Formats: sequence, structure tokens, C-alpha cells
Amino acid sequence: MKKRAFLVIPILIGGLAILSMKTTGFEQQETWIVPEEYQNMKNPFADYEDEDSIGRMVYSKYCKMCHGKKGQGDGSAGKLLNTPVADFTAASFKDQTDGSIYYKISKGRKDMPSFEKVIQSDEDFWMLVKYVKNL
Ligand code: HEC
Repeated sequence: MKKRAFLVIPILIGGLAILSMKTTGFEQQETWIVPEEYQNMKNPFADYEDEDSIGRMVYSKYCKMCHGKKGQGDGSAGKLLNTPVADFTAASFKDQTDGSIYYKISKGRKDMPSFEKVIQSDEDFWMLVKYVKNL
């Protein structure tokens, strides 16, 4: 009985230490507020079929390393960040308007880079929005 306590106590302390590192090491995600004009923004390409897979190509080039192949936030570079990477397959993500997603990709926040100067074609941008929404 006494012998076991020697094992159990250090394991418990170690476990608690790891747990507290996890919760304090990551920044808590606060709500990302999108201005109303963006929330209500119409997607001018909503009815376009992305026949040339523009969305997929842009995603592979600029997003996959953090957000992962399937958008689950498990990209190799994403794992190195302090900010938790968003999961595009979550219902809470898909419930957003196209305009809100457009805003977040344009402006960025913390470890999420701003892409307004990187992806300059409006068509490419909206095809990307559609692509991440359907991942
Ligand atoms: C360097 C890593 C990195 C890259 C590259 C990156 N992202 Fe992100 N992204 C993040 C992180 C981290 C967050 C969470 C930011 C936050 O909540 O503060 C995020 C959040 C987002 C969100 C908001 C998700 C939500 O919960 O509403 C969208 C949309 C998004 N990224 C799209 C993209 C797209 C599209 C690309 C490529 C053009 C991209 N990201 C490239 C790291 C990255």
C-alpha cells in the first residue's frame, strides 16, 4: 500500500503540471467580432461552379500548412503555434456567413495571417471562401 503511494503521487503531480501547462500555455480564444457590413456582404460568386479548382489550389498554397489537408486545424505548421487553429469542419464554423469568413481571411488575427494583400483576385478569394466552407 505504502509502496504504491510512492508511484501514484508523482504521477498525479506530473499529470496536474501537464494539465496546467496546457491551459495556461494556450491563449484562450475569444469571440472574433465581424463588423456588420462584412457579415451581410454578398458573395458575388455564390452561384459559380469552381470548375478549375481555384479554391483548392489557393488553399493548398497558403492555408494547408496550418489548417491541415481537411481543414481540421492539424497542419504541420499549425501545431507549432500558441493560438489554437480553427477547425473548418465544425458546425459553428459553417454556420457563419460567407462575408464573415471573407473578413477573417482578409484581416487575420494573432497567428492567423492577413491575406488581403496576398490573394488579390476577388474570384480567387471567394472561391477560397467556398472551398473552406465545404471542407
Ligand atoms: C500560420 C498559420 C495559418 C495560416 C497560414 C492560415 N491560418 Fe487561418 N487561422 C490560423 C489560426 C491560428 C486561427 C485562429 C485565430 C484566432 O482565433 O485568433 C485561424 C483562423 C482562421 C479563420 C477563422 C475561423 C473561425 O473560427 O471563424 C479562417 C476563416 C481562416 N483561418 C482561414 C484561413 C485561410 C483561408 C487561410 C489561407 C489563405 C489561412 N487561414 C491560413 C492560422 C493560420
